[in-house]
Amino acid sequence: MEDNQNQEIIAMPRIGDIAPSFEAVTTQGDINFPSDYSGEWVILFSHPADFTPVCTSEFMTFASMEQKFTKANCKLVGLSVDGLYSHIAWLRTIKEKIEYKGMKDVEVKFPLIEDITMEVAIKYGMMMPGESNTKAVRAVFFIDTKGIIRAIIYYPLSLGRNFDELYRALIAMQTADTFSVATPADWRPGDDVIVPPAGSCGAAKDRMESKENIKCYDWFFCTKPISKEEVDKTILKK
Ligand code: BEZ
Repeated sequence: MEDNQNQEIIAMPRIGDIAPSFEAVTTQGDINFPSDYSGEWVILFSHPADFTPVCTSEFMTFASMEQKFTKANCKLVGLSVDGLYSHIAWLRTIKEKIEYKGMKDVEVKFPLIEDITMEVAIKYGMMMPGESNTKAVRAVFFIDTKGIIRAIIYYPLSLGRNFDELYRALIAMQTADTFSVATPADWRPGDDVIVPPAGSCGAAKDRMESKENIKCYDWFFCTKPISKEEVDKTILKK
């Protein structure tokens, strides 16, 4: 950890907020965020620094999964407080030299934002002086098709993210939106979903007797099945 004596208090975006807008230079050209992604989900994520091992393993993993996210109408956008030439050199080195968990020759095709001024990192609360004054933490912002922040996850510098969990969270939020349900602990497509509380035992009984296949264990805990096929068919692009 680095000295955190002079830390400023900065308002961080919260779940439910409109994603703060910015213009940036990236490895794939200039972007206007989040307006360029209107109508799509986007995951904006930061990493501490180029040419570092945990970040390298993360980029290889995320890049290898990019098509899965595209099928779920979700774009990926990375950021660190490094410059464009560092980004380009690092991504080229990854492609040419690095092997990790059977992945090699990995090309990172999603944009990586240069943020040497830290303008975007500060705007998004990615700088956490208690952890580092010079590197962004591992932040993940899920932003929906309307530009609203729907989930935020933070990891410290030493901890590589679980990208299966990021995909699971994305599909769970899209399922909740599409079917007007909630998803319980450890939910995965094919598991039962939670239907909003019926409000009373009588209402719960009525629901159980409806054709929707709803099961109420008590008035506050009702579930119903949605098959994986139904989730995939409704959410994933062909
Ligand atoms: C890494 O990605 O390996 C890393 C970056 C910053 C601090 C510690 C580890």
